[in-house]
This record gives sequence, structure tokens and C-alpha cells, in this order.
Amino acid sequence: MKIGIVGGTGDIGEGMAMRLSPVFDIVVGSREQDKAEASCTATREMLKHRGQECTLHGVSNQDAVDKADIVILAVPFKHVVPTLSTLHGFEDKIVISPVNPMEKHDHFVFVPPPEGSAALLIKKLLPKEVRLCCAFNTIAANRWKAIEEELAYSVPVCGDDEDAKHQVMAMVNRISDLQAFNAGPLSVAPLIESLTPLVLNIARYNRMHDVGIQFR
Ligand SMILES: NC(=O)c1ccc[n+]([C@@H]2O[C@H](COP(=O)([O-])OP(=O)(O)OC[C@H]3O[C@@H](n4cnc5c(N)ncnc54)[C@H](OP(=O)(O)O)[C@@H]3O)[C@@H](O)[C@H]2O)c1
Repeated sequence: MKIGIVGGTGDIGEGMAMRLSPVFDIVVGSREQDKAEASCTATREMLKHRGQECTLHGVSNQDAVDKADIVILAVPFKHVVPTLSTLHGFEDKIVISPVNPMEKHDHFVFVPPPEGSAALLIKKLLPKEVRLCCAFNTIAANRWKAIEEELAYSVPVCGDDEDAKHQVMAMVNRISDLQAFNAGPLSVAPLIESLTPLVLNIARYNRMHDVGIQFR
């Protein structure tokens, strides 16, 4: 299975590439192909140093869409609309949104668009055939990048296409100690996206690090 990461040079995209490329065939996308290639070289070297093989290529964001079966949209919420307006060819893809629309004031605040969530806005922007899921919203980039540690978190996954959702859940379950949970249809995306500001506020007000979610 080939996974494309749009915005894959960023904090979460790079961390995901580190964890996913030893397991899956990964294409890291960027607005600048050179930047994607440099990010992949650094990840490849780091994994090689750890004795891990990986399959990882740096490409443009458009190539990351074209070459992938599953596309992860790893761009900040404010750049989602302009980014998607430059890309095409999503029709036969499964798309994953880890996007959280939130702002930092005195504390973190969930600031969804009028559609109700980032995923519901993305659904409106993509062709209707696209099978969109929400996943990976609650795992911090620094946890993805702490490659020497297991990722022992629960991952709520929502989406309207059951087959796509189960493919995404199977993918999640192959990464470190992550455990996927079916959270229901895409309409529950606001609940998933709003978990992240909650977790960040709990970390802040309780002076905790690396707060994550486990359903048991
Ligand atoms: N960071 C986290 O801990 C975390 C955790 C869970 C979910 N998320 C979600 O994951 C998404 C990515 O977060 P992030 O922290 O990885 O973001 P980021 O590092 O700030 O940016 C990710 C990538 O977006 C691209 N980008 C930057 N400015 C852009 C622009 N003006 N137009 C188009 N693309 C632009 C850049 O790629 P190029 O310059 O290479 O094009 C950048 O590397 C967000 O929606 C966030 O809510 C983040």
C-alpha cells in the first residue's frame, strides 16, 4: 500500500514518515520537491543509523496524491483551502484528515469552520467519490518523532465508507502500539478534532507532558 503525505515536510508529516516508512511505501509531498527530498534523506539516514530499512520518496504535493492509495493531508487548517485548490486527482483515493482547527489564546480553543469541523469542510472541497476519514488527530508530532519510544495511544477513526475506514484502521494498527477505534461516521469529526485542544489544555493546566488518549 502506498501512502502519500501532503505537507509531509512539516512537524507531523515528518514524524509520520519516520514511523510509517519502515512499514509502508511512503511518498512525502511538499510545495517544493527539493524540500521533500531533503526531509526524506534526513529520515532515511536516521532510520539507517537505527538499522531500519524504509521506503520513502520526496515528491511534489501533486505527485504525493497521484502516486498514493491513501493520502494524508498534513497541512495546518488555515492552509487547507489554498492547498486543496492547487491539487487534483483525489477521486479514487482514501484521504485521511488529521487536521485540527484550533487556536491558542490563554488556553487552546476549538475553532471549527461553519461546516462544523475541518474534515467536514475538506469533504465539501474534495470530489464526492473521495473516501474521507479522520484519524491521527490526537497524537503530537514530538511523539511521532520520539522514534525510540512506542506510541501507545488509541486512535479514533471516523468516516462514512466502512471499507475505507477499516483500511485506515488496519493501517493504524500496524504502527507501533497504536490501536484504532471505530468512532462512527464522518459527522462525528467535530468530536474527534476537539479532543486535541482538550488534551493540550489538560497538559497545560496540570503541568503534564505528552498527554495522550487511551480508550479501555
Ligand atoms: N503538530 C502536531 O503535533 C499535530 C498533531 C495532530 C494533528 N496535527 C494536524 O496536522 C496538520 C499539520 O500540522 P503540523 O504541525 O505538521 O504543521 P506545520 O509543520 O506547521 O506545516 C506542515 C506543512 O504544511 C506546509 N505549509 C506551510 N505553509 C503552507 C502554506 N502557506 N500553504 C500550503 N502549505 C503550507 C509545509 O510544507 P511545504 O513547505 O513543504 O509545502 C509544512 O511543512 C495540522 O492540520 C494539525 O492540526 C498536528
